[in-house]
Amino acid sequence: MTDSRSAGAAGRYGEDLFAPEHPREAGRIDAAALVYDPLTTHRLRALGVGPGHRCLEVGAGTGTVARWLLDEAGAEEVVALDRDTDALAAVAGRGLRVLRADLTDEDLRPGAFDLIHARFVLMHLPGRRRIVSRLAGWLNPGGALVLGDAVELPDARDASSPYRRTMDAMWRALRTTIGTDICDVPAYPRFLREEGLREVAAEVFCPPLTAGSPLARFWSETWSRMRPELTATGLVDADTVAEATAYLDSPGLAELGPGMAMAWGRRD
Ligand SMILES: C[S@@+](CC[C@H](N)C(=O)[O-])C[C@H]1O[C@@H](n2cnc3c(N)ncnc32)[C@H](O)[C@@H]1O
Repeated sequence: MTDSRSAGAAGRYGEDLFAPEHPREAGRIDAAALVYDPLTTHRLRALGVGPGHRCLEVGAGTGTVARWLLDEAGAEEVVALDRDTDALAAVAGRGLRVLRADLTDEDLRPGAFDLIHARFVLMHLPGRRRIVSRLAGWLNPGGALVLGDAVELPDARDASSPYRRTMDAMWRALRTTIGTDICDVPAYPRFLREEGLREVAAEVFCPPLTAGSPLARFWSETWSRMRPELTATGLVDADTVAEATAYLDSPGLAELGPGMAMAWGRRD
């Protein structure tokens, strides 16, 4: 079994980057949720989530998927787990239990579930291979584990545009600051198979990156929040980041942006 601890990163998501109390953090998460929720919920529905099910939404963020599981899919109970649950206060109640917990805590035992979903969480955490194991261990018989995380299909012929250099600086800064690593994401189907899950499959979406769209706003806000870390990589200066940010809002924008891979499997 391989592990994926990113050497050298002492920081943590929510502490050293993306502080939850930042006035624009909930809006940043919601901008991505707006883009990815239809893809996520389509897959969760296809996996048969519905009435009578007990679901765990891991790293629930602002709770859009947790709320969908209850209100649209008709799940019986949803546990929305996050290290920071302030943004979940507004959606709690009526079958939605908010659990403030750290997923990396080995003593964490939130119960047993028919669906466990984690989106854009594992990529930010140390020891993610071990976490996949623990998540799989919390499945009821027949239950599904669904993991969604970022993927990049960079234009290998572009090493110099401000967009490319800023995106590269972002992945480097995320890795060195808080240990974010998307290299494991293509291995998620294998990880799920190694956990003994069946019906393992995966898919990738790269939603259109168009000027002024929620996705462009998400990247623009992410870069803006990371400006000191981006320039500290030495790959970009402030002018390059400003140029790349303006490009995200320009009619000339023409990029295959990062997307999301989703992998899932079912316990016997
Ligand atoms: C990028 S956001 C994704 C939010 C949500 N899953 C979505 O896709 O809209 C990452 C979330 O994971 C949470 N998180 C980060 N580290 C965590 C940890 N160690 N344990 C639990 N939650 C964590 C953050 O607080 C944040 O809400």
